[in-house]
Amino acid sequence: MKALVLAGGSGTRLRPFSYSMPKQLIPIANTPVLVHVLDAVRELGVTEVGVIVGSRGPEIEAVLGDGSRFGVRITYIAQDAPRGLAHTVVIARDFLGDDDFVMYLGDNMLPDGVVSTAEEFTRHRPAAQVVVHKVADPRSFGVAELGPDGEVLRLVEKPQQPRSDLALIGVYFFTPAIHEAVAAIEPSARGELEITDAIQWLVSSGADVRASRYEGYWKDTGKVEDVLECNSHLLDGLTARVDGHVDAGSVLVGRVVVEAGARVVRSRVEGPAIIGAGTVLQDSHIGPHTSIGRDCLVTDSRLEGSIALDEASVTGVRGLRNSLIGRAASVGTTGRGTDHHCLVVGDHTRVEVAA
Ligand code: DAU
Repeated sequence: MKALVLAGGSGTRLRPFSYSMPKQLIPIANTPVLVHVLDAVRELGVTEVGVIVGSRGPEIEAVLGDGSRFGVRITYIAQDAPRGLAHTVVIARDFLGDDDFVMYLGDNMLPDGVVSTAEEFTRHRPAAQVVVHKVADPRSFGVAELGPDGEVLRLVEKPQQPRSDLALIGVYFFTPAIHEAVAAIEPSARGELEITDAIQWLVSSGADVRASRYEGYWKDTGKVEDVLECNSHLLDGLTARVDGHVDAGSVLVGRVVVEAGARVVRSRVEGPAIIGAGTVLQDSHIGPHTSIGRDCLVTDSRLEGSIALDEASVTGVRGLRNSLIGRAASVGTTGRGTDHHCLVVGDHTRVEVAA
């Protein structure tokens, strides 16, 4: 089996971060989402991976390289524009050949793994096997209606009136039967070739299409709130490790990772939390549920439930919660005795100050 990992698309819901990096590289527990995805693919025993990239391809290649660091072999496949998930199957035809493959959306996190679904697929080899998960509001997803034995009766992309609460959650197993389907469908109302429509085409033509329910934790990391929530969830599974330096005036509580070259000075870190390599924390209180990237500087500050990306600095700010601070961004104060805020706010940025 091969894998097709999708890392193109536009990422408008993750602005402003997606202006300066592809959304699939946003770090969750200090590791890019795409690296989590490659780990999940390798867990299935799959090592031949095609990665679909759009205009941000060079940044993705810089991080993933040839895949050998992650135990896989990557072939990059360029997509000229986000023409839809089924379009990626069309342009990956040479890479996929006549092999079965797992298609994995590069911004979806299923940390509990899909090994049992892969085994089920290999055992029964239906034309397609989709992974579904019960959601509260299915309207922004592909939605599946299932029969009593897990057979798929109908699939609809982002229905206004969903007839089921089972969403497609970004992992699909296919036999080569999918190639005829992606060639047969027309672009949807949003102008994309939908994989949901291609699978529905298989259902309509009488092919065996099955669904497996995923009962673990799942998150589409397409929005800031989802990134923060997913970060908290992954940090909950952290194993404490201190490779950096923690001075005698500091306290680490619970599961805390201090990476190599990081320095914690006169600070309190409440786990779960990660302090990235080369970062300096001084006179601060960090955590719980907080990841600080590499080479950050945090002084006289209090951060909780937050993520700071590499090289960010936070100085003198005591009440940061549920915040996502971008690469090399700085958050500070206007100085003692002042009574105003001073903001340099980038496009599509959101700022919320205490009332
Ligand atoms: O998150 C699960 C949902 O993902 C499913 O329930 C939907 O059925 C499925 O259509 C998809 O919906 P989204 O609207 O969330 O897809 P998005 O545009 O975010 O694209 C998913 C991933 O695929 C993302 O990493 C970008 C990549 N992509 C997307 C398109 C449209 C490509 O590589 N090329 C593309 O042409």
